[in-house]
Amino acid sequence: MLRQALLAASHSGAARRIVETAPGTRGFVRRFVAGESIDDALRVTADIAGQGLLVSLDVLGEDTHDTNRADANADHYAMLLGRLGEDGLAGSAEVSLKLSAVGQALDEDLALANARRVCAAARDAGTAVTLDAEDHETVDSTLRVLAELRRDFPDTGIAIQSYLRRSEEYCAELAHEGSRVRLCKGAYRAPESVAFTDDVEIDKSYVRCMRVLMAGQGYPMLATHDPRLIEIAGALASLHDREPSGYEYQMLYGIRPGEQRRLAREGARVRVYVAFGGEWYRYFMRRLAEKPANLGFLFRSVASR
Ligand code: FDA
Repeated sequence: MLRQALLAASHSGAARRIVETAPGTRGFVRRFVAGESIDDALRVTADIAGQGLLVSLDVLGEDTHDTNRADANADHYAMLLGRLGEDGLAGSAEVSLKLSAVGQALDEDLALANARRVCAAARDAGTAVTLDAEDHETVDSTLRVLAELRRDFPDTGIAIQSYLRRSEEYCAELAHEGSRVRLCKGAYRAPESVAFTDDVEIDKSYVRCMRVLMAGQGYPMLATHDPRLIEIAGALASLHDREPSGYEYQMLYGIRPGEQRRLAREGARVRVYVAFGGEWYRYFMRRLAEKPANLGFLFRSVASR
């Protein structure tokens, strides 16, 4: 209930004004967001890479309905990728791209053209792009864009949300050689007609998808902080004789950092998803919705000002 309310508030202009201007909010936001500038993102990336972890960088900003903004967002990614290459960090960091940030809501071809520019900048820097999963209504379009991008940039990855009833089918189609699939539970609002809404069902679906990906020929990227799912991932890797280099765990910046380091110490590949930029509101609200207890920390942070 609270989760749904927080996700609804992520689309409310009034709620946005209250949250963005409340004193103390920004301090709490910094728990999940690496800062506003490319310099902030590179500093955090270097720090995480120094701990033996990998990074996926997300330039915040999504659901653009303005062509200039869509182009500017792609430019921002290209600039970031140039800096990753110059700073020698491209071996440790890829980027995550939301197609809605580069024009998907306006025109799929515009999003494809901008995503191509980002993929080309990633290739020049020596790294790759993963397409984030967004609203359920964008899935078919995102899969079409992925197929186009993979013709020229075969290492482009995609995120699949296990809450979608069709997620197992998507994973089966994507479990081929050279494919990179990030499996997550899903962080948006989705109706019962297309998505499981019960946590147990979402977890069971995650396990079914993980089985398909781990048994397949691609490179699974298991994005979860859930201890039970992490344990099952390890068991499936053993079952399918996957070397630690044959899959990776992924977690969000600011969430379970001790577990991220523990897995890396044990020899696993672990990638931290690091979001940065000024457009943090919706990303931040999704993090609150995932764990409504975070609201308590936020209120304390605001009250202590
Ligand atoms: P679950 O929500 O059950 O959490 C398990 C435990 O993790 C909790 O008990 C708590 O300890 C901790 N935890 C989880 N979320 C927390 C939070 N916000 N604050 C504090 N603690 C928290 N979604 C999507 O729709 N599209 C996408 O492209 C992506 N991409 C993505 C990349 C990466 C690297 C990750 C880790 C996640 C995503 N997600 C996503 C988000 C994902 O769908 C999901 O909402 C969150 O990962 C939370 O689900 P868990 O699997 O962690 O389980």
